[in-house]
Amino acid sequence: MFFLCNYGDLLKRSVQICSPATGNKEDKDSIILLIKDHEIRAYLNKCPHAWVSLNACEQQIISGCGQYLQCSSHFAQFRMQDGYCVHGPCQGQSLFPVEVIKKDDKVFLLQAL
Ligand code: FES
Repeated sequence: MFFLCNYGDLLKRSVQICSPATGNKEDKDSIILLIKDHEIRAYLNKCPHAWVSLNACEQQIISGCGQYLQCSSHFAQFRMQDGYCVHGPCQGQSLFPVEVIKKDDKVFLLQAL
């Protein structure tokens, strides 16, 4: 398991981008964590169409309406509950889900990416 963040911090922000503490400097991928319907959802921070991080251009990855995750480069929009792209160049594809676990008020990535 690899530490991602404190659960309390995720609760405050509702969406957070975290880098897993794998101890490997070659690991550059990050994880999008959010709470939706009282559950933690986690996705690899890569848009499926160009494999670019959603926050590549700016840190804001929530759409203006507040309902979708949004690529800051090309504005694809993804449902928070399942990562499905509803608008943009990768419409019909999905963000890649990753397994996380909450333990002792901390959130961990279950397996290395
Ligand atoms: S990289 Fe796919 S919409 Fe931006």
